[in-house]
Amino acid sequence: MKIIMLGAPGAGKGTQAKMIAEKYSIPHVSTGDIFRANIKNGTELGKQAKEYMDAGKLVPDELTVKILLDRVAQEDCANGYVLDGFPRTIPQAEVLEDALKKLGDQIDYAINVDVPDENIVRRMSGRRACLKCGATYHIEHIPPKQEGICDTCGSELVLRDDDKPETVQKRLQVYHEQTQPLIDFYTERNILKAVDGTKDMKEVFNDIIAILG
Ligand code: AP5
Ligand code: MG
Repeated sequence: MKIIMLGAPGAGKGTQAKMIAEKYSIPHVSTGDIFRANIKNGTELGKQAKEYMDAGKLVPDELTVKILLDRVAQEDCANGYVLDGFPRTIPQAEVLEDALKKLGDQIDYAINVDVPDENIVRRMSGRRACLKCGATYHIEHIPPKQEGICDTCGSELVLRDDDKPETVQKRLQVYHEQTQPLIDFYTERNILKAVDGTKDMKEVFNDIIAILG
């Protein structure tokens, strides 16, 4: 099963993608997590990506597409995957579609996690992220068992550099301009499914399971 998670920054794509990956035993592939791991490890890609990410802008398609296609070509993706944060532009969606077409394959579902802008800024300031394993928490809604420590891997939790309110506003603007058109793109292909992302995370997950079967 090949799934794309769509939604504004902070809609809960990563939260839901992790649960989907676990339930269906497929890899969770997040371009944001890949970039953050590269930043943490001080790679050349990380240096390039950080500039854009800290400004709330998209990393250029040339850098992003190659990384994603390399990742999904790995063996663990053979039976499917859940993409979180990719595609984010129409050109990225077209490249992915063409690459899959060449393999006689296609995306099965594009799930739009719908959350209005008003809710987003509040969510982001409370988010804490694990840069090691990609887990996310929320200081009010989804707190870790021990404050500041990841339940899954025991690493320190941080406020992401791009979760400052002014950067979140810019990310939302970029989302509406460049990513929201993908909703029409996948509606035209009859694979778009929407869920109400303002519900409790477990309810959102149940709604997604009802779609995926
Ligand atoms: P990326 O890491 O993908 O960030 P994003 O899209 O801005 O999304 P977030 O990770 O911020 O939010 P999310 O939807 O995953 O929400 P989460 O589950 O954490 O990308 C970062 C940057 O990398 C981009 O800005 C760009 O620069 C670059 N980039 C990445 N991919 C790219 C691409 N393809 N092309 C170009 N550039 C790219 O949830 C948010 C918070 O809410 C958490 O605290 C969570 O615990 C909480 N929460 C989740 N669900 C609920 C719920 N139902 N109720 C209450 N709280 C909830
Ligand atoms: Mg995320």
